[in-house]
Amino acid sequence: MRKPETPKGRILTGDRPTGRLHLGHYVGSLKNRVALQDQYECFFIIADLHVLTTRPEKESIASIPGNINEMVLDYLAVGIDPSRCNIFLQSGVPEIAQLNLIFEMLVTLPRLERLPTIKDMADAAGIEALPFGLVGYPVLQAADILAPRATLVPVGRDNLPHVEITREIARRFNSLYGEVFPIPEPMLGSEDTLPGTDGTGKMSKSLGNAICLSDSPEDVRKLVMQMYTDPNRIRADIPGNVEGNPVFAYHDHFNPNQEEVEDLKTRYRQGRVGDVEVKKKLVTALNAFLDPIRERRRQAEQNPDLIRDIILTGTARMREEAGETMRCVREAMGLTYFRA
Ligand code: TRP
Repeated sequence: MRKPETPKGRILTGDRPTGRLHLGHYVGSLKNRVALQDQYECFFIIADLHVLTTRPEKESIASIPGNINEMVLDYLAVGIDPSRCNIFLQSGVPEIAQLNLIFEMLVTLPRLERLPTIKDMADAAGIEALPFGLVGYPVLQAADILAPRATLVPVGRDNLPHVEITREIARRFNSLYGEVFPIPEPMLGSEDTLPGTDGTGKMSKSLGNAICLSDSPEDVRKLVMQMYTDPNRIRADIPGNVEGNPVFAYHDHFNPNQEEVEDLKTRYRQGRVGDVEVKKKLVTALNAFLDPIRERRRQAEQNPDLIRDIILTGTARMREEAGETMRCVREAMGLTYFRA
């Protein structure tokens, strides 16, 4: 049997195209991807078919191309470089759907129904009875990962169960039909999650507590000046809490001037600095961080064909690998009869 050749470090990860990305995405995954693209062969998926698992309506589909455009501009803006990685569109790779169908035979319904992630997505979308495709979300994700025979999958903790399903499917395929797939390893990036500007949990666009990578300096100023701090501190001379205070979490992540941050923390704890000063310094630091990102975004926006070209090139490259995978899959399974 033919076993496909795969470089040891091949990465697959990506996002559903739901719109503009924010600082939480940067801290949780984008920053890591920028570093990974030099060390590994990277495939970054725009998982548009996964959007349909909770939002199959035509209006939702109509918003996908605009969302893809914004998301890929954000990728480029943070330094993801299409000359060093492949950015591809899931729905442009029919082999993923073919592989998904085969994988559906290799996992049980109870195994999928036990996953809390699926229930959570249904709840968030206000769905009562689970659509078949939503139950199959992790199986489709396994097809994404295994179509290019990826060996490493950078994900957040919330996606670990899906990588585990992927590993189980790969092992089951290999034991039934022969060694076609590597068993991919999850790669947990930074576990720091950035709190939202309202101090509740993590930054999320649906909660309306996000600072987007494409927000203007004035947007950033407004969002920071309204930010939640220590609720007990009604006057500047009351000692405040630095721990769990989102303003300081942002300073830690984005203010490169450590001395300034330490000085602000010390004075905050002693009740010798006002929230306004802490926030103004954060506005300056955040805008300094975002300026080169805005500039790269602006440059990319100058070329109206750029995003389309990047996606078509990345998708063509992905199809070469996925096609090779499908040839090996069919051969291993003996699914080769009556073909022209
Ligand atoms: N499930 C991921 C999310 O939470 C998106 C995704 C789809 C993905 N396919 C993937 C992530 C493959 C990593 C690998 O949005």
